[in-house]
Amino acid sequence: MKTIIEPFRIKTVEPIRMTTHEERTRLIKDADYNLFTLHSDDVLIDLLTDSGTGAMSAAQWAAVMRGDESYAGSPSYFRFRDAVQNLAPFKHIIPTHQGRAAEAILFSMFGGTGRLIPNNTHFDTTRGNIEASGALAHDLVIDEGKDPSNEHPFKGNMNLEKLDAYLAEHGDAVPCVMITITNNAGGGQPVSLANIQSTSELARKYGKPFFIDGCRFAENAWFIKQREKGQQDRSITEIVRDCFSVADGMTMSAKKDAFGNIGGWLAFNDDDLAEQARTHLIRTEGFPTYGGLSGRDLEALAQGLTEIVDEDYLRYRIRTNEYIVERLSALGIPVVKPAGGHAVFIDARSWLSHIDPLSYPGQALAVALYEIAGIRSCEIGTVMFGRHPDGSESPAAMDLVRLAIPRRTYTQSHADYIIEAFEELCEVRTSLKGYGIAWEPSLMRHFTCKFAPLD
Ligand code: F0G
Repeated sequence: MKTIIEPFRIKTVEPIRMTTHEERTRLIKDADYNLFTLHSDDVLIDLLTDSGTGAMSAAQWAAVMRGDESYAGSPSYFRFRDAVQNLAPFKHIIPTHQGRAAEAILFSMFGGTGRLIPNNTHFDTTRGNIEASGALAHDLVIDEGKDPSNEHPFKGNMNLEKLDAYLAEHGDAVPCVMITITNNAGGGQPVSLANIQSTSELARKYGKPFFIDGCRFAENAWFIKQREKGQQDRSITEIVRDCFSVADGMTMSAKKDAFGNIGGWLAFNDDDLAEQARTHLIRTEGFPTYGGLSGRDLEALAQGLTEIVDEDYLRYRIRTNEYIVERLSALGIPVVKPAGGHAVFIDARSWLSHIDPLSYPGQALAVALYEIAGIRSCEIGTVMFGRHPDGSESPAAMDLVRLAIPRRTYTQSHADYIIEAFEELCEVRTSLKGYGIAWEPSLMRHFTCKFAPLD
């Protein structure tokens, strides 16, 4: 059969509250044109994030009932730990309430003024945690990864020559090397197994620990299986293990590729680093066998980790994104290609080229998509990355709008509705106007800033 169906049927449903174009125009104005400020029941299709928004399976809900809420030594922790180690064979698995809590602990240890941390592309919370410690975050993704239309199969790859030169030049200032799979900020693009291994070798050559931000490890492994020579006959689990086995540790948001609504972890091989992290954890998150999570959360994640590596699921998930990318391309809309693992990214800078990058073409597109169709998306561009620690502002590498697809949550007719919304947008594209920022906080401004439309 050519049709790739959702490999599940629906047992429980959540109603969507229908709204009109007129209502939405008022609602987004009241939200100061920031989509994060909207009430989510005023959204028809919520593509703000794929983080924590997935549907849990019947087996996960059943596991929730098994959750043991003991403060210390809960069997739920050990099931969680074993499920993580089955895929990511690190010695120490430290639960946290979400990914950024793991980052905050890691950079309380590796950050600090004068330090420099390279990554293919830092996600915004990773960058936020690094910069809050006084260190600087640098992105060294390959050039193809910054070109939305370049169809390189692994656009998330680290630029190895640049990393080598960076480590040679900055030496002592670099406490660790990171890589993010998939590269979220660069379009959900994968990193090849060979590139992960070479990055690890370079880190080792310079004596630096190597950490993987593994949020979307299963999607990354699916791409490796499809696209990397010699990987076709291997299981997703084997590929995932190979990716993590060359690292010294990882940060994880279990709200992505663990099918969790909440959760995360930090992992190390090194006993001393794990000890330091656990001490911090006890102060900020909780005892090391629950780390800010309930026993039932740990159970849901343990079960979720067995489901995320299912190939029927991964095939359907990636195919949905490809389908949307193909249809939007056919409408002449510039989209990041190939389709990303968790999201479809529109190149707003090029599609709305009449709007200057410092007037935020991505925000203009995201607001219009909400007004027209009630779809909530997210700007990943100059609003998110344009403000620098020294207070200056410059255009980000790209101005993208991300349609992040929650896991197992929406169906094919929702995908068709998204495409129809873009057909409508094609009609009004040239009349869309940019935005200014009326107020912003000192860090990670995109979450709470207030916009004002430009005339
Ligand atoms: N790293 C990456 C690559 C991420 O995409 C995220 C979150 C985090 C770390 C932080 O994890 O949310 O559990 O604290 N990304 C979400 C997103 C928020 O919408 O892309 P968290």
